[in-house]
Amino acid sequence: MRDVAVIGIGMTQFGELWGKSIKDIFVEAATKAIKNAGVDHIDSMYVGSMSSGLFVGQEHLGAILADYLGQTPIPSTRVESACASGGAAFRAAYFEVASGASDIVLAGGVEKMTDGADVTEALATAADQEYEVYQGVTFPGLYAMIANAHMNQYGTTREQLAAISVKNHRNGANNPNAQFRSPVTLEQVMNSTLVADPLRLLDCSPVSDGGAAVILCSMDVAKKFTDTIIKVKGTAQASDTIALHSRKSLTTLNSVVTAAHKAYKMAGVTPKDINFAEVHDCFTIAEAVVYEDLGFCEKGCGGPAAEEGRTAIDGKTPLNTSGGLKSKGHPVGATGIAQIIELYEQLTGQAGKRQVKNAHIGLAQNMGGSGASCVINILEAK
Ligand code: COA
Repeated sequence: MRDVAVIGIGMTQFGELWGKSIKDIFVEAATKAIKNAGVDHIDSMYVGSMSSGLFVGQEHLGAILADYLGQTPIPSTRVESACASGGAAFRAAYFEVASGASDIVLAGGVEKMTDGADVTEALATAADQEYEVYQGVTFPGLYAMIANAHMNQYGTTREQLAAISVKNHRNGANNPNAQFRSPVTLEQVMNSTLVADPLRLLDCSPVSDGGAAVILCSMDVAKKFTDTIIKVKGTAQASDTIALHSRKSLTTLNSVVTAAHKAYKMAGVTPKDINFAEVHDCFTIAEAVVYEDLGFCEKGCGGPAAEEGRTAIDGKTPLNTSGGLKSKGHPVGATGIAQIIELYEQLTGQAGKRQVKNAHIGLAQNMGGSGASCVINILEAK
């Protein structure tokens, strides 16, 4: 296997992009990434998208996006792993370069969610239709069950979950591509509209449009284009039971534990070596549980960690410096790639007011559904 580097990034604004189609959004992000990398061609592309068929009635996304990007006849493949589609597309691109099959590959993600489909119903196709959705549960409800279990088992408080939202909105306020750029207070989160008890509006990631793309290439090729080498140090993926009722515990996400273990092993690191992470905070409780399952602390400390500032930009393990899904937005297929973009900006010292001091190794954790799939990528500044 060859060493692989990320050499270019590009993304659109995340938010309600009424004037742009899914093709426009992807082409904007991909064109920016190609230009940013300075490459004159790409050998192939992978695009993460969860549900373009349901959201905008368009399937066969690999081909249509290659067409509108002006890249035919290169191979172009759509990758689907629910909300982890972007992370999975990055991983597919990594293996194509690492194997020697291609030198320069684009990994992208795109979703157009605001165009009129029943978004909650479309998102719920990533849950178990028979045992969960048919009974009336959708994702806010599933994560609310996880939150209640975590509160019962570890004493996690409403205030601690709110602290996660406050932190991520504070970080997102400094991200020009974020959907919500206004800080929120603890009181605003605690008093926002109840969605699924105990989760409130400001505990939830929003419905978003957006696209993101990065360029991966072999290390030898990377050195021709840039002196700033960002190496893919580890990548892993794992799955878990799709329905919550099949799990031994509601408060541990086994796919996260398994993927983290494998990614750390491949990268030759432990959680202590990770300087910062982008994690999948589709709901505030998800950030708390994932923080624990990545091994950053003992089980049960995810809530206190946010409350005590340990996950703030100047804390021990900064989490979601981009604003996370909560504030930056969550166009589901694009999220995993946008996480890689935040890692790249941090590792190259381009994160401005969000910059983490001494950022050498960053981790991106992207998951599908209520954790039935998880992809973890670890990047390092060489
Ligand atoms: N965070 C902050 N503000 C939000 C928001 C969010 N998640 N969602 C909506 N808003 C704001 C809107 O901007 C709007 O503000 P305005 O009145 O100033 O314009 C207001 O709240 C109402 O927006 P609306 O679109 O009517 O909200 P909604 O009730 O239809 O949707 C949720 C709110 C929480 C149900 C929706 O955002 C949601 O489903 N989120 C979860 C998405 C999800 O499950 N993703 C996959 C995870 S696995």
